[in-house]
Amino acid sequence: MGATDDLLGELQHVVREGKATADPAPYDDPMSLYEEDPNVRVRKWLQGVWRGRGSVTPDFWRLHFVVLVEGQPVGMQDLIGDQFNTFGTVVSFSWLSTDLRRQGIGTEMRHAILHLAFAGLGAVEAATEAFLDNPASNAVSRAAGYHENGVAWATRRGEPGLMQRWRLTRDDWIGQQRHDIELLGITECKETLGLS
Ligand SMILES: CC(C)(COP(=O)(O)OP(=O)(O)OC[C@H]1O[C@@H](n2cnc3c(N)ncnc32)[C@H](O)[C@@H]1OP(=O)(O)O)[C@@H](O)C(=O)NCCC(=O)NCCS
Repeated sequence: MGATDDLLGELQHVVREGKATADPAPYDDPMSLYEEDPNVRVRKWLQGVWRGRGSVTPDFWRLHFVVLVEGQPVGMQDLIGDQFNTFGTVVSFSWLSTDLRRQGIGTEMRHAILHLAFAGLGAVEAATEAFLDNPASNAVSRAAGYHENGVAWATRRGEPGLMQRWRLTRDDWIGQQRHDIELLGITECKETLGLS
C-alpha cells in the first residue's frame, strides 16, 4: 500500500530496531538506514519518504510502498521513474524486516512492483542493482527474469564496492507475467505522475 503516515508510524519500530539493513552493507550512499543513532535513523528515513512524496513531477518521481504481511507493515518497496515519459524505464528498491527474510516475500514484493510498472504504468524496461555480495537481492532479480547489465562502482558507508546491474525488458516481463496481482488506484496514480 502507498506509504501513508499511519503505515510509516507502524513500520518505524523495524527501522528503529535496525532490522531494515543487512551485513554486508547492502545500500549505496547516502542512506538514512545506516545512521547509528536510532532517533536520527528514523527521522532521516521519514524525511526521505516525505521528500519523495513532496517532489513528484512528471520528470522524476519516487513511489514509496509499505509491504504488509497479515496486516502488519514489514518493509518497503519503492519504484522510481526518471524521465519516465521519455524512456519508459523504472528502477526498484526494497527492504524487508530481518525477521521475515528468506521466505519468498522479497520475491513477491518485486513481482508486485513490476506488475505496477509494466501492467499499470506501461513501462518498457525495469532496472535494479545490488552489491555483488548481496545474494538475496541478486537472486530475486535473477529469479524475476532480469538479465545482467554490467557492473558499476558505488560507495557504501564510504567504502567502494561493485554493484551488479540488472535489466528486465517489457518482453521479458510479458513472458512471465503474473495474473494473480491486483492493482488499485491506477488512474489516479497516472494522473498524479503526469503520465501521457
Ligand atoms: C533483498 C530482500 C528484500 C529479499 O527478500 P527475501 O524475502 O529475503 O528474499 P526471498 O526469500 O524472496 O529470496 C529470494 C532468493 O534469494 C535467496 N536468498 C535470500 N537470502 C539469501 C542469502 N542470505 N544468501 C543466499 N541466498 C539468499 C533465496 O534463496 C531465494 O532464491 P531462490 O529464488 O533461488 O530460492 C531482503 O533480503 C532484504 O531486505 N535485504 C536487505 C536490504 C537489501 O539488500 N535491499 C536491496 C538493496 S539493493
